[in-house]
Amino acid sequence: MIRLGVNVDHIATLREARKGNEPDPVAAAVLAEMGGADGIVCHLREDRRHIKDRDLSILRQVVKTHLNMEMAPTDEMMKIAISVLPDMVTLVPERRQEVTTEGGLDVTTNTAYMEEVVSTLRANNIVVSMFIDPDIYQIKTSARLGADYVELHTGYYAHAEDLNKVVEELEKLRSMAAAATKLGLGVSAGHGLNYQNVIEVAKIEQIEELNIGHSIISRAVLLGMETAVRDMIKLIR
Ligand code: PXP
Repeated sequence: MIRLGVNVDHIATLREARKGNEPDPVAAAVLAEMGGADGIVCHLREDRRHIKDRDLSILRQVVKTHLNMEMAPTDEMMKIAISVLPDMVTLVPERRQEVTTEGGLDVTTNTAYMEEVVSTLRANNIVVSMFIDPDIYQIKTSARLGADYVELHTGYYAHAEDLNKVVEELEKLRSMAAAATKLGLGVSAGHGLNYQNVIEVAKIEQIEELNIGHSIISRAVLLGMETAVRDMIKLIR
């Protein structure tokens, strides 16, 4: 059965809009698990714009399912990962000005460093995943570097503007998922998936897990609106 990893970064983004303490991504993670999530995903960015070090360490203590830490392959993040010991690390690219992770990690450059990153994480019993574009060179290199998983970037599919492009991107995801499996890699996918476009991706047999954040948090906010307003009215009247 395909697994769902819920990304709670967007709860922290909302909290940071007021630099206060709510909503709490840890509370969101607990509720996501109660809803059946198979794992919790969070991205500790270099600029700490949403998830903070404290969130990560509390998530490590509270998450009962599977904690997947997204991070850039840097010395600073390596130290944190090795001290927190998430179940999985997903290596992602990071550019400061981006709104969210924009493209996959290019694993074909800086391979000596990448190899060291992967082997150090694995030596600490952390499962390593590479967030990459659905591209054969990225997949082959990920396998060569010793990664356990690849997470295929579904953003190109999700943001495709016409039907031909949608079909083309979906086909790419299908064939690259199959290629990764053949090389012995586990396969997950994510980015930009929502309640409409997820259906076809979830049908791809080799994909074991989908990591979804924005669409779930967006839906959660609206589904909770009516109750939240009623609760406030009860208080003030
Ligand atoms: N997977 C990775 C590697 C990501 O960086 C993100 C975005 O943080 C996601 C999945 C989830 O994307 P979205 O929030 O668009 O569902």
